[in-house]
Amino acid sequence: MPSRATPIEFKGVSFSYGDRRILVNTSFRVEPGESVAVVGPSGSGKSTLLHLASGLLSPDSGEVLVDGLSTGSSSVGCRSRMRRSQIGIVLQDASLLEELTARENIELVLRDARMGRSEARRVAMAALDRVGLKDVAGNYPHELSGGEAQRVAVGRALAKSPTIVLADEPTGSLDASTTNTVASLLYASVRSALLVVTHDDAVARRADQILTLDSQHPQSQKTDPGPNR
Ligand SMILES: Nc1ncnc2c1ncn2[C@@H]1O[C@H](COP(=O)(O)OP(=O)(O)OP(=O)(O)O)[C@@H](O)[C@H]1O
Ligand SMILES: [Mg+2]
Repeated sequence: MPSRATPIEFKGVSFSYGDRRILVNTSFRVEPGESVAVVGPSGSGKSTLLHLASGLLSPDSGEVLVDGLSTGSSSVGCRSRMRRSQIGIVLQDASLLEELTARENIELVLRDARMGRSEARRVAMAALDRVGLKDVAGNYPHELSGGEAQRVAVGRALAKSPTIVLADEPTGSLDASTTNTVASLLYASVRSALLVVTHDDAVARRADQILTLDSQHPQSQKTDPGPNR
C-alpha cells in the first residue's frame, strides 16, 4: 500500500551552484495521489529541483521531505535504497547504459530491486510493450532513436511500479501522438506522486498543480481539471 504521508514536500528550500542562486526559499507540497508539473524557462532550475526531490542533491538550507523523511538528514545508503525501491526517475537525457540492450537496461533496475531473473525479463518486456517498443527490445542505445531511448527510460522508471515518479522532460523528443501516449502512461502511473518537468503545455495542463520556476520566484497554482485529463 502506498504510504499516506505527504509524498514530497519542499520547505523553504534554497540551493546554489557556487554563487549562482537557483532556488530561493522554495516551498510546495505534492499531496498523496497528486501530480505536479514543473515549468519554466531553460536554466530556471527545473532539473535541479527534480534532483533535490530524488535526493541526488541536498539543499543548502530548508528541507526536502520524501514520504516524511528529510533527504538532507538521511544517509547516502538510505537515500539510495529509497530511490531503488520507491522512486522511478526519468532523467532529462535518457541515461541508458550503452553496453546493455533496451530490455536489459530495464531488467537491471528490476534485478537491483531484488526481482528474480525470469520475472524481471517478463516485466521488462511488458514495460517495453506499454511504451510501444517491444520490437526494439534487443537494440542497444546507439541503435535507438532519441525518442525511442526516451520511451525506454520511461518504461524503465515505471517498470517497478514506483510509488513516486520523477520525470524530467519525458516527452521532449516525441511527436504529438507519442507524447499523448507517454503522458497518459505517466499520469495513469501515479500511485503516490508524480513530479513532471515539461515544456509541453498539453502535458502540464493534465497535472493537478503547476509549479512555475521563474527566475527565482517559484509560483504554484492548482490547475482546473480540464476535459483532457
Ligand atoms: N552541476 C552544475 N554546476 C554548476 N551549475 C549548474 C550545474 N547544473 C546546472 N547548473 C546551472 O544551474 C542552472 C539551472 O540548471 P537546470 O539544469 O536545473 O535548469 P533547467 O530549468 O532544467 O533547464 P532546461 O530547461 O534547459 O533543462 C543553469 O543555469 C545551469 O547552468
Ligand atoms: Mg532541465
